[in-house]
Amino acid sequence: MTAKLLRGRVLSFNDAPKARDDHESYTYIEDGGLLLQDGKIIARGEFADIVKSAPDHVQVTDHRPHIIMAGFIDPHIHFTQMQVLGSYAGSLLEWLNTYTFVEEQRFGDLAHAQKITGHFYDEMIRHGTTSAVAYCSVHPQSVDAYFEEAQKRNMLMLGGKVMMDREAPVALTDTPQSSYDDSKALIEKWHGRGRAHYAITPRFAITSSPEQLEMAGALAKEHSDLHIQTHLNENRDEIEFTNALYPTMGDYFGIYQHYGLAGKKSLFGHCIHLEDRERDAMIETGSVAVFCPTSNLFIGSGLFDWDRVAGPQGKGRIAIATDVGGGTNYSMLRTLDEGYKILNLQGQRMNPLTSFYQITLGNARALSLEEKIGTLNQGTDADVVVLNANATPAMQVRMETVTTLEEELFLLQTIGDDRAIVETYVAGEALKSTLA
Ligand code: GUN
Ligand code: ZN
Repeated sequence: MTAKLLRGRVLSFNDAPKARDDHESYTYIEDGGLLLQDGKIIARGEFADIVKSAPDHVQVTDHRPHIIMAGFIDPHIHFTQMQVLGSYAGSLLEWLNTYTFVEEQRFGDLAHAQKITGHFYDEMIRHGTTSAVAYCSVHPQSVDAYFEEAQKRNMLMLGGKVMMDREAPVALTDTPQSSYDDSKALIEKWHGRGRAHYAITPRFAITSSPEQLEMAGALAKEHSDLHIQTHLNENRDEIEFTNALYPTMGDYFGIYQHYGLAGKKSLFGHCIHLEDRERDAMIETGSVAVFCPTSNLFIGSGLFDWDRVAGPQGKGRIAIATDVGGGTNYSMLRTLDEGYKILNLQGQRMNPLTSFYQITLGNARALSLEEKIGTLNQGTDADVVVLNANATPAMQVRMETVTTLEEELFLLQTIGDDRAIVETYVAGEALKSTLA
């Protein structure tokens, strides 16, 4: 690959901001340069310095006055629900049974899965998301479609076959043994191939029998480097039903703990109605709670209590995600906006630095992938987004009164969307400008 040099306002986070004005938590270079080659970030610094050390024939792209940042990371999304998004339902179980479990049956057809994955990756790129963790459907071919398309675009993606053997239409169920065998074969086929990471994916305790969760735990033991993803404490009726199905486990998180599914690589979607014991156990095991604002509002599941999940010492690990199609927008900017409102309603605030830290380095840390993605540090993967806070007339008029970087970031998250994404680079290649 020819070396590329991006010029613009370079912003990369070093750590979680401790306060609204924690300028140590990030590196910001007003006239910055970012040198990309062979899918990696080779150098970052003042443009004037980087251009001197760049190889001959370097291709320079001037993105000034836009902000150049690490690509966004979406750690919980269902690519199978692109045609479920915006379905009219009152609550989680109704939404799942009426729309989602009907739609997901179509993914037994490889051609349908391939068609939807094409649209899915287009939306990721259009919205500046360069890595995501997705639930595929119960069908192994949906995983093939998902990773094949990721490979074509050279994207670092995580995902896995949903394991579900009950409480769903027969056409959408596997068995404990077949879910183990299929997952095992998919791990061998896909994990570590190109940039693919397989995630063990028991959908949630309602749709998995004890025997199936046992099998998921066996997979986790045999492949301790893999991520695990599932749902936890999203909705009151869901919790009641779960506890009735697993009456001896004490609480919902206790079920996953019992089967060896808690830990540092485990991602638990939602975590809205946690008991104290569950919260403490999540922190103790290093498990990650995934906050899904647009989904929690749309399905009416409840308000995620960030401070409580983080715990008194702030040690709780939290990620923020779209959860499309329960979630209503692919944009991590729209997600931040709704997340801000959910927290504000509870007297909590997420300042703009923290927001942008969260969708880049924060989410990378939640995935234990911060050595590869989430920053613009030298040696990391060249997944980059270019942001324009003047993308629409409404943004332009508001930008006239903006004087600081923090205000600009807050404007981007409050009224920005895919139109604010000027370019999305994946492994050093500009992909957004190639979309139809
Ligand atoms: N719980 C189990 N499956 C799902 C799903 O597909 N979406 C959401 N939001 N919650 C779930
Ligand atoms: Zn989900």
